[in-house]
Amino acid sequence: MDKFIIKGQQKLAGQIKVSGAKNSALKIIAATILLNDPVTISNVPDLMDVRTMKKVLEKLGASVEYSPKNSTMKIDPSTINSYRAPYELVKTMRASFQVMGPLLARFGNAEISLPGGCNFGPRPVDYHLKAFEQMGAKITTEHGYICAKVDKLIGNHIYFDFPSVGATENVIMAASLTDGVTIIENAAKEPEVVDLATFLKLCGAKIEGEGTSRIRIEGVKKLHARDFTVLSDRIEAGTFILASLATNSSLEIIGAPVFALEVFLEKLKDCGHDFEIHQNSLIVKPSKNPKAIKFTAQPHPGFPTDLQAPMAAYLSTVEGTSLITEGVYENRFVYISELNRMGASIELDGNKAYITGQDFLSGAPVMASDLRAGAALVIAALGAKGTTEINRVYHIDRGYDGLVAKLSAVGAQIERVVG
Ligand code: EPZ
Repeated sequence: MDKFIIKGQQKLAGQIKVSGAKNSALKIIAATILLNDPVTISNVPDLMDVRTMKKVLEKLGASVEYSPKNSTMKIDPSTINSYRAPYELVKTMRASFQVMGPLLARFGNAEISLPGGCNFGPRPVDYHLKAFEQMGAKITTEHGYICAKVDKLIGNHIYFDFPSVGATENVIMAASLTDGVTIIENAAKEPEVVDLATFLKLCGAKIEGEGTSRIRIEGVKKLHARDFTVLSDRIEAGTFILASLATNSSLEIIGAPVFALEVFLEKLKDCGHDFEIHQNSLIVKPSKNPKAIKFTAQPHPGFPTDLQAPMAAYLSTVEGTSLITEGVYENRFVYISELNRMGASIELDGNKAYITGQDFLSGAPVMASDLRAGAALVIAALGAKGTTEINRVYHIDRGYDGLVAKLSAVGAQIERVVG
């Protein structure tokens, strides 16, 4: 298995470019199932998860040409002739479940392997299924597959107990090509949900209220393929900002979607840092004496849960005691033991982590347990004294496009050892 070797405490300098958003690209690729004609998606990041979604579409019968060099994906969904997303693919990427809504709307049939658990706790799909049932689908579980069938979906009034990103997106996609009006209450407001709605509207969908907690979708008979450029990745941008701060450096982050990072930047300002915002970039201005902070990871527009672990890694060397509360997942602190092995002092109490800032962390052999836990270890390693060996970096490859090359280009001593 590949690993990263990082020699810490190297100053970073220059410009680092943000790629397209993983969590938007994956859903937009899934949404092309709703179309009948070829379409080109641009700013598609080169990631394991994107390659998995490409395979899912190919398994369904679509023809897909992906050019990582140009970040473009050409998809011809007109040849789709299967409704089954197989276990081998869904088990490696839960987002494969996002093909259920489009398949049901277009073909009245979908068979998707149950996604199962995940390294940071259970992640059920009950909201997705309840919503599709409310829209008329009959759902059964057969041999580990969720089978959904319907003659014709019908719009309905849907309420989510929690603003689930995936369920909101799945329903938006299905409802766009469904008779009648669908209203989603307590919808997710994430920028990636808005990006998906923007794409669908460009293709002719009638969607109102995306980005708010009430989304109204009036189904149309047909959507028309329109080329689209994916939004920049706010989580990658946030990770680069933390890489800059962990090394007390002033990086310029090109393409940072500042509008989607408001609370994150606000919290870093509470630490004492500053940011110079330009039209298409953000320059990090680190404070010499950063201070501990408190925050709660919440659905958007709250502090993003996907930046919770990288932020914890950064706060490990910030003076005082910081407090992080995780409000989205039951158990997203599995990375703490690895940070503590590098000398961090983090104590867990339920969904709260108390971080007492240390003078420095020390390089050590560590293991990534999931994507953002892996990103946290990269941040810790960049700021640590000595050399860190990060194992199981396949988790990091799922969500960071060209991370080693991008960080090396701004002065980090990071290499991938192929194993
Ligand atoms: C998306 O996952 C992202 N993934 C996650 O990013 C992100 O952490 C998450 O949204 C929250 O922002 C993709 O977009 C591919 P949810 P999703 O449905 O849609 C519970 C990363 O690192 N829930 O909003 O699966 C669930 O268990 C990843 O890039 C139910 O109980 O997240 C969780 O506690 C990881 N039943 C909460 O809601 C359901 O049917 C939020 O999940 C659905 C969700």
